[in-house]
Amino acid sequence: MTLRAILAGTGSALPRTRVSNEELARRVDTSDEWIVERTGIRFRHIAEPDETTATLAAAAAKEALAAAGLEPSDIGLIIVATATPDNTFPASATKVQALLGAPDCIAFDVAAVCSGFLYAISVADSMLRTGAAKHALIIGSETFSRILDWEDRTTCVLFGDGAGAVVLSAEEVADDRGILATRLHAEGQYCDMLYVDGGPSTTGTVGHVRMQGREVFRHAVTNLAAVLGEVLADVGLSATDIDWVVPHQANKRIIDATAKKLGLPAERVVLTVDQHANTSAASVPLALDLAVRDGRIRRGDLVVLEAMGGGFTWGAAVLRV
Ligand code: ACO
Repeated sequence: MTLRAILAGTGSALPRTRVSNEELARRVDTSDEWIVERTGIRFRHIAEPDETTATLAAAAAKEALAAAGLEPSDIGLIIVATATPDNTFPASATKVQALLGAPDCIAFDVAAVCSGFLYAISVADSMLRTGAAKHALIIGSETFSRILDWEDRTTCVLFGDGAGAVVLSAEEVADDRGILATRLHAEGQYCDMLYVDGGPSTTGTVGHVRMQGREVFRHAVTNLAAVLGEVLADVGLSATDIDWVVPHQANKRIIDATAKKLGLPAERVVLTVDQHANTSAASVPLALDLAVRDGRIRRGDLVVLEAMGGGFTWGAAVLRV
């Protein structure tokens, strides 16, 4: 028997308001044609003032708890991956804990931008396997609309808001179920290629997203293909063993190019970027929840998660559902 972190449930939450490319083109100098051709994005959800990173996270967490058949009181660890917390502090994870009515547990945020969920999964996997908790809520939640420069068409058309959550449970298993391997990377020398031009310790303001799109694109395809190869090699598997890839939903062209590099057919890649745009740390758990709920991802499937974001940071995880 082996102690592993098992995927016990998934959930997600999207803001009420959905904005199409055509609607966006009425207030930004862009077009549906340009956005679809360069990114594959057609819609994004944008949070209303009463919808925040913590409220979206709590809504996604409730769904994941229900899917796992657990109560908030069962949870020993809450990690929220976000670059857009409700406040500089306390951690959004503690706000989620309060919104769920969960009693004393471990709760903290992870900041690795678009790869935040992969970082959070990896940390939770280690903590569950060393006995820090029995059940963990891992949430990616973002309100990127609040840090977009709506005058900058090169960035504001790319992002959306939302949250996705999973419950991971520590279980002794006799088979290969659960998280089998994770890999994380960071290369801080590229931190000025994708960043926010503000912060509490510099400008004292929240700031806006700034990006060198072409450079990000180039690094993303190289890094994601490499980390997928690494994590599969860690468990002695190859691309042909994968049932589903759930990639970070930044850009359809990045996803397609990465899959092509690995020789993965498009039918095995979960794609939501057309509906949600780039929801940063929320994109992987949102896409995972969608594919679990519509019956594509089933018990026994080998699933690979991957993401890359500002820093640069990137990572991948392989799990048997
Ligand atoms: N609408 C219309 N035209 C636009 C827009 C827009 N929204 N944005 C830029 N343009 C114009 C530019 O002004 C430029 O015009 P010009 O030729 O007259 O100067 C032209 O389109 C081409 O601009 P580029 O920036 O060279 O376009 P590119 O083909 O590189 O596409 C894009 C830009 C979509 C951002 C691409 O570089 C990309 O996908 N990069 C990856 C970025 C990404 O996904 N980041 C997310 C965060 S990181 C991550 O999650 C992996």
